[in-house]
Amino acid sequence: MNDANAIEVAGVPTSALNCIDLSSSDIQQSVSLLKQACLDSGFFYVINHGVGQDLMEEVFVQSRRFFGLPLSEKMKLLRNEKHRGYTPLFDEVLDPGNQIQGDYKEGYYIGEEIPEDDLDAQKPHFGPNLWPSEDILPRWRQTMEKFHSQALNMAKVVARIIALALDLEADFFDKPEILGKPIPILRLLHYEGWISDPSKGIYGAGAHSDFGLITLLATDDVLGLQICKNKDAKPQAWEYVQPLKGAFVVNLGDMLERWSNCIFRSTLHRVIGNGQERYSIAFFLDPNHDCLIECLPTCMSEENPPKFPPILCQTYLAQRYYNTHADLDVYRREGA
Ligand code: OGA
Ligand code: NI
Repeated sequence: MNDANAIEVAGVPTSALNCIDLSSSDIQQSVSLLKQACLDSGFFYVINHGVGQDLMEEVFVQSRRFFGLPLSEKMKLLRNEKHRGYTPLFDEVLDPGNQIQGDYKEGYYIGEEIPEDDLDAQKPHFGPNLWPSEDILPRWRQTMEKFHSQALNMAKVVARIIALALDLEADFFDKPEILGKPIPILRLLHYEGWISDPSKGIYGAGAHSDFGLITLLATDDVLGLQICKNKDAKPQAWEYVQPLKGAFVVNLGDMLERWSNCIFRSTLHRVIGNGQERYSIAFFLDPNHDCLIECLPTCMSEENPPKFPPILCQTYLAQRYYNTHADLDVYRREGA
């Protein structure tokens, strides 16, 4: 489909994204579709991804059940310094320059379950998860852990195709020092029925690009996600991404943009509330803590030298989380 055929919703066009079928045996075709998508919009759909439809539906059901609890119950699971647990309304401000308040969304972070007595639990983002009690939300933990593990597998398969699209060996990102002990973060999101008003700085989620390697996103059927293919254009042009049943929307993160020296772009996106309640499930794949993100050999030349200095994944992530999340002291002062 070309842009002239794009459907418009309230004057905003919808984006025609490529669709990658992970069950396809034609790997060359998948690589070429993915490469085109990464050069064009940094966003694509993935279907036949191996995450069961029943499981995806169960995650949405369980997510609704959690966010439906009274605020006092949810606040008992308030996000800790490891970024696990509940993030209330306005906790995150993704686009401080344009937002009058934080994002009109609440969320829940779930990472790799690492017991307190494991040495790795001392690293940022690693440690035990916060779980709602089994009495209040039966099978909640089980559902989330299953989804977390299947999403991680799927993300690794996508990373292999990305490696091929960058003229690297398929297992480039699979190396122990890159995705041997990655930081995979599942985040449940709930947008209440607020109506966004960009002219007043009110957004479901402010404009941002994701921090890591890639993000997998499952949404319900409520339209809300918008992308801006050219972040430097003025004024910025936004397009809706239509929900596609059973598919994940996948987008590239800033670490991949740095790795690929901007050949693959991490695309600006935001969520616009239209008055309907909306649920989405994001899965962020970030590499090992001590993985050095530096320009790939296939992405530099004499005319195109590295644009970014090398940086450790954990240093980069720490900066990005610090810049976008409320200080936990805010809640302590409120006596939560
Ligand atoms: C995010 C994000 C989009 C959505 O969490 O980084 O862009 O549709 N979410 O919830
Ligand atoms: Ni995002």
